[in-house]
Amino acid sequence: MNNKQNKSILLGICGGIAAYKSAYLVRLLQDRGYQVQAMMTEAATHFVTPVTFQALTNQVVLTDIWDPRIPNRMAHIEATRQADAMLIAPATANVIAKLAAGFADDLLTTTALARNCPLLVAPAMNREMWAQAATQRNIKQLEQDGIIVIGPASGSQACGEIGEGRMEEPEIIATVIDRALTSKSWAGRQVLITAGPTMEAIDPVRAITNHSSGKMGYALAEALIKKGADVTLISGPVAITPPYGVRLISVMSAEEMLNAVMKYVTDCLVFFSVAAVADYKPATSHSQKIKKNTQDLTLELMPTVDILATVASLAHAPFCVGFAAETNSVEDYAKQKRLIKNIPVIIANHAQQALGHDDNEVMIIDDSGQYPLVKANKSVIAEQIIDHVVKLLNRKK
Ligand code: CTP
Repeated sequence: MNNKQNKSILLGICGGIAAYKSAYLVRLLQDRGYQVQAMMTEAATHFVTPVTFQALTNQVVLTDIWDPRIPNRMAHIEATRQADAMLIAPATANVIAKLAAGFADDLLTTTALARNCPLLVAPAMNREMWAQAATQRNIKQLEQDGIIVIGPASGSQACGEIGEGRMEEPEIIATVIDRALTSKSWAGRQVLITAGPTMEAIDPVRAITNHSSGKMGYALAEALIKKGADVTLISGPVAITPPYGVRLISVMSAEEMLNAVMKYVTDCLVFFSVAAVADYKPATSHSQKIKKNTQDLTLELMPTVDILATVASLAHAPFCVGFAAETNSVEDYAKQKRLIKNIPVIIANHAQQALGHDDNEVMIIDDSGQYPLVKANKSVIAEQIIDHVVKLLNRKK
């Protein structure tokens, strides 16, 4: 459980085959610390029984507007007053049409109309139903009414067809819920982040790279998007999924990363330089594979440009946050790097502890001192780094 444990989601489930995914969605929301109250349309109960959701949520599932178990017989008011957000997943074309027109002819639609909390809907239907002018018109209406529409995704459908209309993946839906319930303290702020390793080609099949996984940079991106920032993530080759809603620029080499950074740095407020950028690249680029022989092979390397130092030296430099990965004398080297690169803050960490792991133990170093953070998941560390940066930004004002 985390600090969201007091927040509650009213999950409306409509009659579509994607209703089976909503059971998993309940677990994901609970894992993120939300309490979930399920509400099902009559049609939904034909796909999955209320017993499934009752067992998962440990709460009686609401299905009937005339439910005699609700003392004041006003389930539609009670349920929404206790919720921080109402989520309808899956939302069928029929329910979407009713929401767009303001109908209230069953418990779910009546509750949606009576709500005093944000409403999010995750449409799920056959691709032709989704593409119909009527559905598209209704979706636009929902968006105009301030309802958050999640997805739909594209891919193979239960009916055997392929196209747009699948319910968005439960992980993404849970992430959007998180964001909807987070205060948008970074709204209107542009942020640039570099993440992951770079890969310097030796020849078409070989390269020099490092063990950076990109997890720290991606965690910062996720945390900042949640707070409403406009995030551009310039990433070297990694094996993790980019946060939903990020502007992702994929690069390979240090030179490509530098070019992308220089393109997107204008107007950005903060630059988080998290990438493990190669300091050297092969001096010669071979267009064909180097063939082996019995002789020693010497590779001549030449230095790459220091991206962070370059950005920090710009006339209108953003607020720069550097990272220092060291194997020894961590604090001393990090302090030196902060001064050499002329940046206000650097995050020092042990390379062996940081690279590739989900957890990290870091020390924030700025001109007022050192602030060690206890070992935690990179998403928690990201939040703490952002809080510290906010303090420094406020001090600058
Ligand atoms: N960095 C950069 N461009 C480079 C090298 C590093 O932008 N060509 C940035 C990193 O993103 C990080 C900081 O500089 O924010 C420090 O990177 P690190 O690899 O720890 O140090 P280096 O400056 O490369 O020095 P060394 O490898 O000697 O420790």
